[in-house]
Amino acid sequence: MKIIIVKDSVEGGQKAFEFIQSGMEKGAKVLGLATGSTPVTLYQEMVKSDLDFSDMTSVNLDEYVGLSGDDTQSYRYFMNEQLFNKKPFKETFVPNGLADAEVECPHYDEIIATHPVDIQILGIGGNAHIGFNEPGTPFDSTTHKVALTEATIEANKRFFDKAEDVPRFAYSMGIQSIMGAKEIILMAYGENKAEAIKATVEGEITEEVPSSILQKHDNVVLIIDEAAAKLLKK
Ligand code: GLP
Repeated sequence: MKIIIVKDSVEGGQKAFEFIQSGMEKGAKVLGLATGSTPVTLYQEMVKSDLDFSDMTSVNLDEYVGLSGDDTQSYRYFMNEQLFNKKPFKETFVPNGLADAEVECPHYDEIIATHPVDIQILGIGGNAHIGFNEPGTPFDSTTHKVALTEATIEANKRFFDKAEDVPRFAYSMGIQSIMGAKEIILMAYGENKAEAIKATVEGEITEEVPSSILQKHDNVVLIIDEAAAKLLKK
């Protein structure tokens, strides 16, 4: 894994943007995109750049079950607000939170199969989840319905009025699908990500630590600040 230490999330967003820019210069056409607070500075860089995304496709990692794309808490809404409304893409895919799992999961797998991801952007949960793949998710998983852990509900309640409003389920791209990306850029900022980053980089590869599988991918870049890097061996 290549590790780039940055001073803050603004510099992290700039670095991640440079990877996207050079990837697009080399022909990347499909971006795997993520939600959460971590990629926001990257999306700001993309918006203010003069890069043209109108020939690009995006495939997002996940969506809450039960929320429509118009719901202000949905990941579709987040992506539209942060990026797509400002920088038009050719096509954008986010799982449909209102569809039945039996329909949506195979449908989303088909989308991933027909739009293989060139560059996958990832954040990471404090418990090392990627997408919404919580600890214990099989490494060979494809798109599936996930029961969110209490830790994730707790972490994500800041975006909702009250914890009870946080959906209990999500659709998430699986770990196998994430590993299918040609290049992966994982960003993490802040001390509350330090344990997860240590486990990602130096820990045992185990399904109990979803991000640990990234050690097996041959093109991963970690963009992290000092606080997130603080438990790594020097
Ligand atoms: C959510 C998302 C993840 C994201 C994580 C961390 O659970 N499903 O994709 O990486 O939150 O969020 P944040 O970047 O806000 O810390």
